[in-house]
Amino acid sequence: MSDKHVTTLLKKHLKQAMKNSSKSRRQVFLDLYSGAGGISKKLKHDGFGVLEFEINRGEEFDLTRPCVRRFVLSWLRSGIVRGVWLATICKSWSRARRGPPGSNWQKIRDNEHIYGLPGLPEKCLHTLKIGNATMRQTAETIKTCIQFRVPVCLENPVGSMLWQAPPATGVFHDWAVYSTTGRCIP
Ligand SMILES: C[S@@+](CC[C@H](N)C(=O)[O-])C[C@H]1O[C@@H](n2cnc3c(N)ncnc32)[C@H](O)[C@@H]1O
Repeated sequence: MSDKHVTTLLKKHLKQAMKNSSKSRRQVFLDLYSGAGGISKKLKHDGFGVLEFEINRGEEFDLTRPCVRRFVLSWLRSGIVRGVWLATICKSWSRARRGPPGSNWQKIRDNEHIYGLPGLPEKCLHTLKIGNATMRQTAETIKTCIQFRVPVCLENPVGSMLWQAPPATGVFHDWAVYSTTGRCIP
């Protein structure tokens, strides 16, 4: 799909989300890495317009795509975003990854090698690269939210190493109110 088509679709989805809102026709919530969409469901139920960015919903929702990122950041700067929920992929950051070398859950980071252990096999490098990129993009999104006073929440497991990655810790320390919960919100 071309960037032009992605742009057209995103504009269409934004218009529709605003139209669907009974609370405000000028603002929407962004549910980034929305997964099953539990947060969106609740917000929609409460009358808000929501845009769900989940790669499985279509190419226009791929948050690693530069033109999609540009759109999200420009919306944050423009005042049309009422709040952001980020459920950044935790697959590469999880401490549950502690399997033997060669397995699908082999350890790929530790506290001393937060961006990746040396000598990893090829098959782990893609997961690592996506994890590092989406963590940096998440930090940039949060920074922009802080700058433009848009409320933002980051969902990740309490033991996730993402909380320790320097681009993320920099923004979290200015901003954060932490809360832990034992289960995901349905
Ligand atoms: C941690 S899960 C979301 C958890 C969510 N709170 C839920 O309850 O389902 C992260 C989600 O990000 C999606 N994802 C992975 N890569 C993505 C990308 N490049 N752009 C948008 N979504 C992506 C995955 O498909 C997955 O559903």
